[in-house]
Amino acid sequence: MIEAIEGDITALRVDAIVNAANERLAGGGGVDGAIHRAAGQRELQAACRAIGGCPTGEVRLTLGFRLPAGAIIHAVGPVWHGGGAGEEALLASCYRNAMALAAEQGFASLAFPAISCGVYGFPAARAVPIAVREVRAALARPTPVERVIFCCFDAAMAELYRRELGGAGLTSPP
Ligand code: APR
Repeated sequence: MIEAIEGDITALRVDAIVNAANERLAGGGGVDGAIHRAAGQRELQAACRAIGGCPTGEVRLTLGFRLPAGAIIHAVGPVWHGGGAGEEALLASCYRNAMALAAEQGFASLAFPAISCGVYGFPAARAVPIAVREVRAALARPTPVERVIFCCFDAAMAELYRRELGGAGLTSPP
């Protein structure tokens, strides 16, 4: 089941939330900042420091610490450079790798923010079809993941997902 909701990803009680991180896993603004604040800056920063970093397109796992979510999958999306620098393939690999890691961990429920669509400047109209395509492809294979939530910070983004999902409902947070 895939759904798009409008809300704050840090409030979701799911097996894992995905973070839109940077290569140093150093924390930042946007959803990354919100996740660090809600999880507990000190604990999450220490966990990220121990991992070291994460190349663009890849993902890394930490605990969720004080979040209602049990774990955080840190995904590093590409910075948008106009579309000619492999950005679409790198964004696709974020979603693919996050779904693969969630499956490996036996997670049943997972929530994604719109990776790269904030500070990193990826046009949402191009990012949303990639996100939906990759999640659908992963769910079409045998996987423990049963529920994927695209958690959008604003109504316009949620509407883009809703349209891409073909009218699948906008629902309230779990
Ligand atoms: N819940 C859900 N979505 C959120 C939240 C939240 N609490 N806060 C922000 N967002 C949305 C933004 O509106 C945007 O659509 O997440 C999307 C991703 O935006 P960014 O957080 O700016 O992420 P990104 O574009 O991938 O840039 C990553 O920003 O904060 C830094 O450390 C981060 O350097 C990295 C860069």
